[in-house]
Amino acid sequence: MADAPFLNYINGAWVPSASGETFESRNPARQSDLVGEFPSSSAEDVANAVEAAKDAFDAWRLMPAPKRGEILKRVGDIMTERKAEIAHAMTREMGKPFFETKGDVQEAIDTAYYAMTMGRQLFGHTVPSEMNNKFNMTVRRPIGVCGLITAWNFPVAVPTWKMFPAILSGNTVVFKPSEDAPHSGALLVQVMEDAGVPAGVVNLVQGAGPTGRAIVEHTDVAAISFTGSSETGSRIAATAAARHARISLEMGGKNPAIVMEDADLDLAMEGLIWGAYGTTGQRCTATSRLIVHEDVHDELVERIKAKASTLTLGYGNDDGVEMGPLINSKALDKVTTYMDVAREDGATIAMGGTPATGDGLEDGFFFNPTLFTDVTRDMRVAREEIFGPVLSVIKIKSFDEAIEVANDVAYGLSSAVYTQDISRAFRALRDIDAGITYINGPTIGAEAHMSFGGVKATGNGHREGGWEVYDFYTETKTCYIDFSGGLQRAQIDNYDD
Ligand code: SIN
Repeated sequence: MADAPFLNYINGAWVPSASGETFESRNPARQSDLVGEFPSSSAEDVANAVEAAKDAFDAWRLMPAPKRGEILKRVGDIMTERKAEIAHAMTREMGKPFFETKGDVQEAIDTAYYAMTMGRQLFGHTVPSEMNNKFNMTVRRPIGVCGLITAWNFPVAVPTWKMFPAILSGNTVVFKPSEDAPHSGALLVQVMEDAGVPAGVVNLVQGAGPTGRAIVEHTDVAAISFTGSSETGSRIAATAAARHARISLEMGGKNPAIVMEDADLDLAMEGLIWGAYGTTGQRCTATSRLIVHEDVHDELVERIKAKASTLTLGYGNDDGVEMGPLINSKALDKVTTYMDVAREDGATIAMGGTPATGDGLEDGFFFNPTLFTDVTRDMRVAREEIFGPVLSVIKIKSFDEAIEVANDVAYGLSSAVYTQDISRAFRALRDIDAGITYINGPTIGAEAHMSFGGVKATGNGHREGGWEVYDFYTETKTCYIDFSGGLQRAQIDNYDD
């Protein structure tokens, strides 16, 4: 069971780690609140989970995909019933407000129902042959055991972006949730068990970096899907590439929102507040750069300050809370350090800039919504991912300059443009180097059936979400059926001409 004592889930059984060692998960809004102790899994635990996944693979891949889809439909139904319960637990564990964690569960429900429909749509191609009496087609095959390593900020939704398409396609999985959100991961796996996912198809190993490393290094793990930092992603890529494993990486962002002088400023302000301070700025897609035309710079900055100063910080399971804490003390230290970085580089802290104190905030990792102005594109706060409630404002004079600044970072996940000019909108869609561009909307807010992912240092070319993720979790088999009864040579072997 996903209740204390908290355990791994291997081959359909809840089991402790081989060493018996554990780690703690605490409420980031109230550090005195211990969520629980979770197994610290070693390479031995990972090996047991991989073995279970390997053993389950044959029966699972041979179950017709529509039947696998029916199980995922039950997963979605159970999540719908448990939505509030899971969301409250998630808020307690990772801090974002209850209305946001409910959305996280809803995303998982939508991903489950979408996966169900894909059970009847794992399309291949039928293609004419160059010869008579010959039939050509492609079919999809599952890959085998997939290792899923996820972050804490979407502790249910993002694992389902990986797990549901993986198992719908006939793969089995070993799932390691973030060590900052182990309970949420366990609750997800509990749903899988209750929905009737057979033993060994989904295995859970709790733990930190070494557990993830053991998954990446295991030679029977055929594919790895990772969401997290670019540094860890690079290490995973190097290790996995050496043994030719398939890898999907979803990493950092420094997402720009461009606001032009013709924009609806009320709309832009609402989108910026939500994009920059929603989830305490701890989304891969969070708006971290505001690139604003000089004509509307001062007015927009004032509007953002006025609105952001009204945000209610606190424990996200309390009524009325709009912004939760940072995830842990390391994150608080990192965000705090960037205040000095900003000052040293010559930026102005126009709002916030300090840890948040006050009633109900003393025992958590709270930081005030922060705005840096006088930022130039070369400053570290304009280039590095801070992963906190921090927005850097860069003033520009033209749309061309805005696009140039938007593209002048290592990352390329999400982006937004506020303008009333249709030509600018389409130029932005064409010219911004990012996997996602929103017109007149914030940089956050992925939809389950749309492709999600980034370019440059954000990703490695794969996409999650929608139909494209099914390409990652399947291999193409090319099939030729010759019913001519004779040897027909393809042009590659035909020497007549
Ligand atoms: C994410 O940043 O990972 C969440 C998706 C989104 O809000 O667009």
